[in-house]
Amino acid sequence: MAPWTDRTGKLSVLKSVVLAALFLPAISIGYGLFLGPPVARPAIQVNHLAGLWSVRLLMIALAITPLRQILKWPRLITARRMIGVAAAIYLGVHFLAYVVDKGFDIATVLTEIVQRIYLMIGFGGMMIMTALAITSSDGMIRRLGARRWQRLHRMIYLLGLLAIIHYFLQMKLNVAQPTIYFGLLIWFIGYRVIFWQGGVTWATAILPLLLLGVLAACITALGEAAYFNLHRGIPVERILQANLSFVRGPRPGWIVLFLGLGATGLAIGRRIWDAVNPVKAATVRAQN
Ligand code: HEM
Repeated sequence: MAPWTDRTGKLSVLKSVVLAALFLPAISIGYGLFLGPPVARPAIQVNHLAGLWSVRLLMIALAITPLRQILKWPRLITARRMIGVAAAIYLGVHFLAYVVDKGFDIATVLTEIVQRIYLMIGFGGMMIMTALAITSSDGMIRRLGARRWQRLHRMIYLLGLLAIIHYFLQMKLNVAQPTIYFGLLIWFIGYRVIFWQGGVTWATAILPLLLLGVLAACITALGEAAYFNLHRGIPVERILQANLSFVRGPRPGWIVLFLGLGATGLAIGRRIWDAVNPVKAATVRAQN
């Protein structure tokens, strides 16, 4: 089955669009490398950008299940494997660029991984990502059995955590992006917990989604305050107060709240659509 076709072999517009979109970061990285202004260490530039896209794609892959359940759009699942594999490929480029920057000196690479905690954590994440990518095919699902496969693939949450810690630890000053990804990971884990406890009905209900959005945003703001307090000794209340000023743009907590409320908005929108189009809604329910 080609990546742009569905199971019946027909062209899938959704998969084709996603596949094309997954090439865009690579094109932008290549453009910067070959046609952009010269940089002192091109391999490090590639390392940074590919690492960033690997984390972003991991977050998008984690968002697929909630989105597909909230929007009642089961076909969205067909894009998840492609996005996950692309995250693994960008991670491979991230690692390779690091090895290139070290002049292919494998002894130095291994010594640095053992000596630097953020590299060790990143390496652990890379091992999990590799295991998930290798076992992502239909054949592997059959070989492992659905239950064992699912249990293995739940490690994506641990992978997300390791990736974010690695990202945090190597940042020198601006930790806004990893803080946002931390908040999103809290939201994804929270969504899963609600799903395991109450099934899809509960997980996609308006009130749990609303509360989850607010909770994830609060944890993000507290996490950010704790980070600045532990790392730079800035009082927690000063960082929390900074959330009330928008002079330098919204703080990570607000962005996580915005995205959490966005998910709630989608659930409301889907309900309105169902109410306005009862016949189509019944057809979709039957298809699901
Ligand atoms: C799940 C695995 C990993 C993910 C998701 C990941 C992601 C990232 C991200 C997002 C950054 C920051 C990019 C930026 O500053 O814009 C980064 C930096 C970096 N990562 Fe990774 N990484 C992973 C594993 C690894 C591994 C295995 C290595 C090498 C052993 C590695 C080496 C580096 C290096 C050298 C930097 C730049 C550090 C600096 O400039 O001071 N990463 N990584």
